[in-house]
Amino acid sequence: MIPQTLPVPAAGQRVATPRRYLMCPPDHFAVTYAINPWMDPEAPVDASLAARQWEALRDAYLDLGHQVETIKPEEGLPDMVFAANGATVVGGKVLAASFRNEERRAEGPAYREWFRKNGFARIHDPEFVNEGEGDFLFAGRWILAGHGFRSDPHAHLEAQEFFELPVIGLRLVDPRYYHLDTALAVLDDTTVAYYPGAFSPGSREVLRRLYPDAVIATAEDAAAFGLNAVSDGLNVLLPRAATGLAAQLAARGYRPLGMDLSELLKAGGSVKCCTLELRD
Ligand code: ARG
Repeated sequence: MIPQTLPVPAAGQRVATPRRYLMCPPDHFAVTYAINPWMDPEAPVDASLAARQWEALRDAYLDLGHQVETIKPEEGLPDMVFAANGATVVGGKVLAASFRNEERRAEGPAYREWFRKNGFARIHDPEFVNEGEGDFLFAGRWILAGHGFRSDPHAHLEAQEFFELPVIGLRLVDPRYYHLDTALAVLDDTTVAYYPGAFSPGSREVLRRLYPDAVIATAEDAAAFGLNAVSDGLNVLLPRAATGLAAQLAARGYRPLGMDLSELLKAGGSVKCCTLELRD
């Protein structure tokens, strides 16, 4: 039973729960095509810096006591480092991903194969385009789901049937925030942070009704990719440049941990994009 209302934890009562994440090392990371406004194939990427930044993120999770699994990166799939897009996993069930853009299409089966080999028995092969946790964010009582740029809204209904959870569709309208996880971060089962400007008027109103106490990010923090964050209920890893958002989180009793993923940002990804949560 999923309770419809949950007690909102007061600042100071926040608790971290141990998580299990899947990450993909950036061995073949590069910006060789442009499928979102952040990508410029002409701009240089420092591959060894990207590797160090990714390792620092992985080590931060390990230091917090979380488990990190890794998937072998494949040559010719430069965006495979963005593990969040590889699937959606809730209650041990895996909704495999199906990518909108040809350049990323082979990542779907690559991730699916990892799940098959790693003991996940309930895998659903998608009928409609869905880019995993880029657009599906599990929020305790329901799944928040983005559409407008990548995931097909029909995938929302597909996810609802498969996970047997309410799926709340939200329309993204700003191409810079092309995935839901670039515009909204789930902080715990009752709280989210989001940038209203990324959503249609109707979806903004839905968010306001569901989360009257949400952390509202500024345009500046959103542009620093601050909402591409990962929370364990207490610690919130987010891009270091989103200083205003970090201060807001601290005031609410969270522990913000700023990460520098400047090289990954050149592909339009950061902390959350590199992280897929395995909810067994
Ligand atoms: N270059 C990738 C793309 O445009 C970045 C994906 C970022 N991932 C995410 N979960 N938002 O598809």
